[in-house]
Amino acid sequence: MFSASPDPPFAGIIASLFWTPHNAFLGAHYEVNQPLVIKDETLFRIGSHSIDNQLVLAPMAGVTDRPFRQLCRELGAGLVVSEMVTSDSSLWNSRKSQTRMIHRGEAEPRSVQIAGSDPEMMAAAAQMNVERGAQLIDINMGCPAKKVCKKAAGSALMKDEPLVNEILNAVVDAVDVPVTLKIRTGWDTNNRNGVTIARMAEDAGIAALAVHGRTRADAYKGSAEYDTIAQIVGSIDIPVMANGDIDSPLKAKQVLDHTGAAAIMIGRAAQGRPWIFREIDHYLRTGQQLPEPSLEEVQTILSTHLCELHQFYGDFMGTRIARKHVGWYLKTLPNSEAFRKDFNQINNTQDQHASVQRYFEQLITTEEQAA
Ligand SMILES: Cc1cc2nc3c(=O)[nH]c(=O)nc-3n(C[C@H](O)[C@H](O)[C@H](O)COP(=O)(O)O)c2cc1C
Repeated sequence: MFSASPDPPFAGIIASLFWTPHNAFLGAHYEVNQPLVIKDETLFRIGSHSIDNQLVLAPMAGVTDRPFRQLCRELGAGLVVSEMVTSDSSLWNSRKSQTRMIHRGEAEPRSVQIAGSDPEMMAAAAQMNVERGAQLIDINMGCPAKKVCKKAAGSALMKDEPLVNEILNAVVDAVDVPVTLKIRTGWDTNNRNGVTIARMAEDAGIAALAVHGRTRADAYKGSAEYDTIAQIVGSIDIPVMANGDIDSPLKAKQVLDHTGAAAIMIGRAAQGRPWIFREIDHYLRTGQQLPEPSLEEVQTILSTHLCELHQFYGDFMGTRIARKHVGWYLKTLPNSEAFRKDFNQINNTQDQHASVQRYFEQLITTEEQAA
């Protein structure tokens, strides 16, 4: 199922000292071949895997499919995590599960998230995913989605510490690749048991922990808090990825400084803005902010993303899945609402491309006239 070399056009993840995310994907106006200075404190390892930088794409069901993961890697994410796969392998025949398990051509290490609540099933699912090429297994205890929580999986598990312990030990014992865990800070604001679970995870042999700075009860309300993440970092020796509401290079630096985390994990801010990783990477390395990508570059990235979606899902699903991504890319651009209305009626790949091209041509012409 896996092949050794990435498919074009997302080819060329080169983790050499001369690699910099700014020259890896389409960003021709950035300097190439600048030596990447790696400081000791920015080295981020998960078990045997050394990660290119401190930036991780969060798993997002319905978003972080293979095309999007590849794009984020090319644009500067050091690690990307797959959409969750249910641990119930009897459901793996569905089209959704099948596409979630395609990792052909993906950059390494390939991290696959599993979700469920039965320790034996989780262990078996971990093993089967490793057989299919997963090089990291991530356990989902961070997602409050109803579909997961109805079965007391995802973040709902944090309420049942003995079961958490069983799952962690079962999965770690079942595979010989590093296992990571994704949690929230606790069950609710009165039960922030993130530190307890983090210690349990370390004892069970979990290799790294991602912590979203909200409780399960918070869902996505309010703002993420980073004090509990800092407490967790101070309580364990395994690397922690701080997650929640990180949407700019400055915020990334603040969260790293405040929590002492080994890395940060970014979810929603990467939707329609996958270049956020190179922006943050550049800022962390140099203290300088990159300029926003030009309209031409956004158009190129979006058009390439469209191609990949059409190719990966086929014309029917590809055109439908493309709609939400296109909406995210254009969210902050002029006349995007009217454009989206029309775009969402289009059912074929060529017309989608033509429509995006017309939209950007108009914007670029307007920009040139105003200059
Ligand atoms: C659309 C969507 C889908 C998500 N799916 C998952 C998932 O499958 N597994 C998981 O652990 N977290 C999932 N999450 C949670 C994210 O990984 C992340 O923890 C959360 O969005 C907070 O980070 P952010 O503020 O950077 O978005 C999802 C979030 C969103 C918005």
